[in-house]
Order: sequence, then structure tokens, then C-alpha cells
Amino acid sequence: MKKQHLGFELIIYDDENELPAFEKRLLDKAIKARKSAYAPYSNFQVGAAVLMENGEVVIGNNQENASYPSGLCAERVAVFQAGALYPGVGMLAIAVSAASNNHLVDVPAGPCGNCRQAIFEYEVKQKSPISVLLQGEKGPVFKCGSISDILPLAFGNSFLGDS
Ligand code: THU
Repeated sequence: MKKQHLGFELIIYDDENELPAFEKRLLDKAIKARKSAYAPYSNFQVGAAVLMENGEVVIGNNQENASYPSGLCAERVAVFQAGALYPGVGMLAIAVSAASNNHLVDVPAGPCGNCRQAIFEYEVKQKSPISVLLQGEKGPVFKCGSISDILPLAFGNSFLGDS
């Protein structure tokens, strides 16, 4: 028997002004996207912005539905849209901004498990990391260098063998 600790490097910026300029710009686009989220049921708005290798930025925000499970998170709206618009282009980074009508979100909200899995698919596909920037409505910004960092023991297509 052996025990192994799995860890990753989390970079914590005090606020968005500490970010390198290109990441601040990306986060600004996530914040802008958050402001047009459709979240009438949860009153929790999330915006995401994906920086593509070709310099384009693709945004998404959460889209809710009266039939709750039919809605989709901001991160998946963004990466699916990026995959649809630029099928052969790599994704470099995703920034996510979250806020609530009911309370101040001053710590970054981690992407849900389904979104981690969805982003991970593109990382595997392109064979290069997608970094993740997270912020609440205000407060610290968390950065990790790869979605794999926050999806340990991930399930990927290598388990499916040759299909
Ligand atoms: N949500 C996201 O958009 N991203 C996440 O990573 C977590 C949750 C959305 C889904 C739903 O519209 C609302 O936040 C509350 O769960």
C-alpha cells in the first residue's frame, strides 16, 4: 500500500489589478458576459470568456430553463461555442466571473464538475493546457495553469481505446 498526495499550484491574486494585462482583459470580458446571463431561477449569474490561439475571445454565460436541468453553465456555453466557431483552434485560457443577486460573492466560484469535464475534453483534444482564471463579483482571482489541475484522476478518451 502507498499513499500519494496530489497537489497543484494555485496562484492567488489579491484582485484583478494584479493580473497580467491580457488576463485582466479576458476577465473583463467574462464580467461583461456575466451581466447578460439568463439566470432568473437561481439569481446566480456566471460569465465566461475563452481566449483562443488565434486571439479571438469567445464568451458564454449561464442559460437557465424552467425545466432546471435543461439549462447550461456559462463555462460550457463558452467552450462549446468556441468549439463550434473555431473547430481547429486551440483554447489558451478560460476566465470565469460569478455574482449573485442575493449575496456578495467575494470568493471565486470553482467550475462545476460537468464543466471541468467539458473543458478537459478540449485540453486532451489539443494536447496543451487550458489555464483557468476565477473570480467572484470582487475579491481575489485564482489562477491554475491547467484544467487538469482541478480534475484529478480525470476520465478521458484514452480509457475508451480505439473506437
Ligand atoms: N453555474 C455556472 O454557470 N457555472 C458553474 O460553474 C456553476 C454554476 C450556473 C448554473 C446555474 O445557472 C447557476 O449557476 C446556479 O447553479
